[in-house]
Amino acid sequence: MSMTFPPAFLWGTATAAYQIEGAVREGGRTPSIWDTFSHTPGKVEGGDTGDTAVDHFHRRAEDVALMAGLGVGAYRFSVSWSRVQPTGRGPAVQRGLDFYRGLVDDLLDHGIRPVLTLYHWDLPQELETAGGWPERDTAHRFADYARIVAEALGDRVDMWTTLNEPWCSAFLGYGSGVHAPGRTDPVAALRAAHHLNLGHGLAAQALRSALPAGAQLSVSLNPSVVRASSQSPADLDARRRIDALANRIFADPMLKGTYPRDLFADTGALTDWSFVHGDDLAVIKHPLDWLGLNYYAPSVVSASTDNRPERNDGHGASEHSPWPGADSVSFHQPPGERTEMGWSVDPTGLHNLLLHYTREAPGLPLMITENGAAYVDKPAADGSVHDPDRIRYLHGHLSAVHRAIADGADVRGYFLWSLMDNFEWSYGNGKRFGAVYVDYETLARTPKSSAHWYAALARSGTLPEPSLPQ
Ligand code: FCB
Repeated sequence: MSMTFPPAFLWGTATAAYQIEGAVREGGRTPSIWDTFSHTPGKVEGGDTGDTAVDHFHRRAEDVALMAGLGVGAYRFSVSWSRVQPTGRGPAVQRGLDFYRGLVDDLLDHGIRPVLTLYHWDLPQELETAGGWPERDTAHRFADYARIVAEALGDRVDMWTTLNEPWCSAFLGYGSGVHAPGRTDPVAALRAAHHLNLGHGLAAQALRSALPAGAQLSVSLNPSVVRASSQSPADLDARRRIDALANRIFADPMLKGTYPRDLFADTGALTDWSFVHGDDLAVIKHPLDWLGLNYYAPSVVSASTDNRPERNDGHGASEHSPWPGADSVSFHQPPGERTEMGWSVDPTGLHNLLLHYTREAPGLPLMITENGAAYVDKPAADGSVHDPDRIRYLHGHLSAVHRAIADGADVRGYFLWSLMDNFEWSYGNGKRFGAVYVDYETLARTPKSSAHWYAALARSGTLPEPSLPQ
C-alpha cells in the first residue's frame, strides 16, 4: 500500500547551533555553558568539543545548497544566544545577527522555509555564573533575547520555537550533570524546569508582540513514551511518576496552565515549589500555533524491588539521577533492535505520542521537530556511504506518522535529525545521526543513501520502499 502524506506536509531537516557551527571565538561570540563543559576534562567522550564542530559557520552556503539538493522544504536550526547577545544581557552584536540573517536569506533564496529555535541548550556562560536556569532572572533574560532575535529576523522567519527539550536542559544539565552546566542538584533541576517554563511563556509574549501577525509560535518537547513493565500497581505508579517528571511538568503548565498535583507530592520532600509565583502559570500558558515533538525511543519502567534501582534510561551514565523524587524507579531497555545510541527501535512509540497529544491538546497542530537514529556509517571504497539501517528506521517511523494521521492526529511536518553528522553532546563526534556524512578530517560532506531516500520522499510526498534507492 503506498503511503502518501498531505500535500502541505512540511519535510525538513534539523540541526542545532553548538552541534554544527564551530567558530566559537569569532564575531564577538563569548562562551556558552557547552563551551565550558566540553572543555572540562572527562565530560565529553574523546575530549571532543564544538570548537570547530562541522564548521557550518564558514560553510553555510554549501550546507544550504546541500539541503536544496535534497529538495527539503524546511530547515530547523537554532540561534546561538552568546553569538547574538554575548553575555546574555544588554545590546545585540550585529555581526552575530548578520550570520543568521545571511543563513535565512540563503534558505529563502532556495525556497526552504526557516524554522528558528531560540534555545537549544547553549546558555551564555555569564548567565550560568549568575545562577543559570535555577534562578528566575534567567527567564527574563531569555525573553529579552527573544525580542532581539524577533526584531532582527521577524520580517523573514515565520516559524518560531522557544525552547528545545527543556527536560534535557533541566534534568540532564542540573540533575544528572551529563549535560552542561554539569550540576548535580535535584532541587536546582526542579527550579530550572520551572524557570524554563517561565522563560518559554515570557519569550512567547515577547515574540508575539515583536513579530508580524501570522508568525507561528511553538516549543519542542521530548516527551518520554513511558511504559510500565507490568500492570502491577507498583509498576503503574512508577510509570505515573516518570510521566509527571518527564512530560506533564512541561506540557501541563504550557498547555493547561497547571502543574500536576502528583508532581508536587512526589517531590515534596525536596522542595515546596515556592519558586512558582502568583501569575507564572498564566504567563506559561501562552497560546501556541503548533506543538513540536521530538521522538527517538520509548522507556520501560518498573518499581525497583531491592532499593538498588537500575537506571538504563538511555540518558547517559551518572551516579546522580535525572529523576528527582523517583529513586525507587528502575529503567529497562526493552529487548529487540537498538541504534548505536543503545536506544530501542520502536515506531509504535511515535504513533502513541502523536495520538496522546492529539487528545491532550485538541485542535493544536503537531510537528515532529526531531526523529532519527545514529548508526556506524563508513564510506565505501568509492566514497559513497550506505546506511540501510537508518533508511529502515526512518521508513518505520514515517509509516507510524502516516498511521497516526489516518487515526486523526493533525501532524503538519517532520524534521529529520539530523541534516548532517555533528557534535552529539556528551557523546562527542562519535555518534553519527546525519543524512549527510561528514569526514571530521577534511570536513567534506557526502550525502548518505538515506539522504537520497529522504529526498525522494520530500519531492513526492509518498513514502518510498526502504530498499530504494541504494
Ligand atoms: C535530542 C537533541 C538533539 C540531538 C538528538 C540526538 O535530544 O535535541 O540535539 O542531540 O537528541
